[in-house]
Amino acid sequence: MPPSTEETASAPAVEETTKRPSEEDAVAEIAKKAKVDADADADAKAGPDLTKTHAYGKLILFGEHFVVYKVPALVGAVAAYTDCSIKVEDTDEKDSSNDSETGVVKIVDNRPAVPNYKTKKAEEGKKAIDLVLNHFKIFGKGKKATLTFGGNLCCASGIGASAAQVVSLARAVKETLPQYAKLTEDEINAAGYEGEKGYHGTPSGIDNTAATFGGLLKFQRTDGEPIFEKKAIKEPIRIVYASTGITSCTTEVVGDVRSKKEADPAWFDDLLKKYCDLATKGEKALEAGDMAELGKLLDENHKLLQDLTVSSKELDDLVDAARKAGAIGAKMSGTGRGGLMLALTPDEATQNAVAEALEKVAPQVWKTSFQ
Ligand code: MEV
Repeated sequence: MPPSTEETASAPAVEETTKRPSEEDAVAEIAKKAKVDADADADAKAGPDLTKTHAYGKLILFGEHFVVYKVPALVGAVAAYTDCSIKVEDTDEKDSSNDSETGVVKIVDNRPAVPNYKTKKAEEGKKAIDLVLNHFKIFGKGKKATLTFGGNLCCASGIGASAAQVVSLARAVKETLPQYAKLTEDEINAAGYEGEKGYHGTPSGIDNTAATFGGLLKFQRTDGEPIFEKKAIKEPIRIVYASTGITSCTTEVVGDVRSKKEADPAWFDDLLKKYCDLATKGEKALEAGDMAELGKLLDENHKLLQDLTVSSKELDDLVDAARKAGAIGAKMSGTGRGGLMLALTPDEATQNAVAEALEKVAPQVWKTSFQ
């Protein structure tokens, strides 16, 4: 199995420690200014600044599936991101590659991904991109746009790769097309939400909100605008996450949960009530920095998701392996029935031990931390 990947950059919500200005900094600043003209020239040739198009992956701590029914969830953005560049050219309208309602759109997908993810998600991805382009009403007749997606977020079910893709596209629209230069973060998020409909059918909005705003968020869907707030935490929360290698379809799994809910409302209401109790306690444990309690609640959350029928043997096996290797809590995360699991680890040594144990049984393993 390949070794786990360490995410080195911190999640976007992290307050970076302010460096005190020193003489060295001042000299560097002058040198930087002197280079501005040359850099501007080079930038014009190199295209837009991709760092401005970063959109983050996410891991749900509490709330997958339940969040669809307008109860609060807790989600953390990971440091890994997708980026996007847009090149617009004039073109011959009869171009045979014009298979998009929004004009001629060529997609170059350089994102890393687990095997089969991109083929399985290709149709949904095209739909999602069209939804974002239609939302902005761009690339009409006579134009050809090449959208290139990249970044270091490895696409896998559960990590919010679809949301990261559509939010990075919305950010690239802002960076590339002068008429959209004033898009706000909320407008970027709203465009991401439209795009997510291509992948999710009826998304709750949690993934695109984490992709846009980053950090650790409490999120709640409502009949109107979603409510969300950033949560401050006392100490970094170390996480190991691993993929089953199985790409699941969110629309199908969310649809199946809905059918089960409609067939047996009392069963679902009982789970929802238990979930709300767990999520409330989870938020308190986070605020108090009580990792042991948080771990226990994540374990209980996994049990609830098993009862909801969205876990799977592959996920349960990885969760067990992580607990045996010292994780203080572990659960599936995201859509389920394949996809990802995450494990909470109290310190670096345990994080490494859990990652090593998971590498023996999971096709892909990563380490990250919420700060
Ligand atoms: C997917 O990351 C999370 C789900 O709850 C779907 C959604 O919230 O849109 C399964």
